[in-house]
Amino acid sequence: MRINLIFVLTLIFAYNADNIDGVIFKFTNFVCDIHNASWIKVHQCRLKAVKRNHITLNMNATLLLPVNRAHVQVQFLKNSNGYKLFHYNATIDICRFLNQSYDPVAIMIFRQFKEFSNFNHTCPYMGNIYVKDLYLRPELVPLPIPTGEYLLNLKWIFDKKAAITTKQYFIIEESK
Ligand SMILES: *[C@@H]1O[C@H](CO)[C@@H](O)[C@H](O)[C@H]1NC(C)=O
Ligand SMILES: *[C@@H]1O[C@H](CO)[C@@H](O)[C@H](O)[C@H]1NC(C)=O
Ligand SMILES: *[C@@H]1O[C@H](CO)[C@@H](O)[C@H](O)[C@H]1NC(C)=O
Ligand SMILES: *[C@@H]1O[C@H](CO)[C@@H](O)[C@H](O)[C@H]1NC(C)=O
Ligand SMILES: *[C@@H]1O[C@H](CO)[C@@H](O)[C@H](O)[C@H]1NC(C)=O
Repeated sequence: MRINLIFVLTLIFAYNADNIDGVIFKFTNFVCDIHNASWIKVHQCRLKAVKRNHITLNMNATLLLPVNRAHVQVQFLKNSNGYKLFHYNATIDICRFLNQSYDPVAIMIFRQFKEFSNFNHTCPYMGNIYVKDLYLRPELVPLPIPTGEYLLNLKWIFDKKAAITTKQYFIIEESK
């Protein structure tokens, strides 16, 4: 696990920044790649355009086996002639994290979707899991993150075996 400490500290201390007006965070694509169909069945994996700058992310899936041990490999990438790692590449122990949030970047991601999802309790997980009408809220993403095109790549690993990768593409731009 390699974390750029300055990036993380910036995220933490920028939490109270109030200069976020004039920035738009918007999903541009959402992809679900299944690695192991024994673990998960995806019913829905899509973005919905509610209105011009309001795009919501929706996912609905069934966990076919009880998940007692889970990790997520988090990569934050920025597009500049192809997506390249942008400061953050870490593996989070999900069951440990759900007991006690311990990683600042994971906390930031979790805050974005917790209230739009039933992914909000401690392990084990089994059966239906969903994210519904999630939209990005810049006030929960501490600046400074430069404008540009980003990819949050999440590889979900159950019982040490890759189950699914979800790719959340979004842009950060100045509003006009
Ligand atoms: C898929 O998951 C099942 C259940 O854990 C496991 O038995 C199987 O080995 C996995 N397959 C691969 C290719 O990892
Ligand atoms: C998810 O899909 C299942 C099966 O299709 C459905 O019963 C359930 O209502 C869906 N949940 C949400 C939140 O859309
Ligand atoms: C990101 O982390 C994974 C797992 O720890 C590692 O295999 C991979 O090489 C890392 N990628 C980069 C670009 O550092
Ligand atoms: C989470 O907390 C419960 C209850 O305190 C404990 O039994 C369990 O082992 C913890 N799990 C992890 C992954 O830390
Ligand atoms: C978890 O999500 C479910 C479904 O949205 C909701 O009913 C429940 O109150 C949530 N629990 C917590 C602790 O946020």
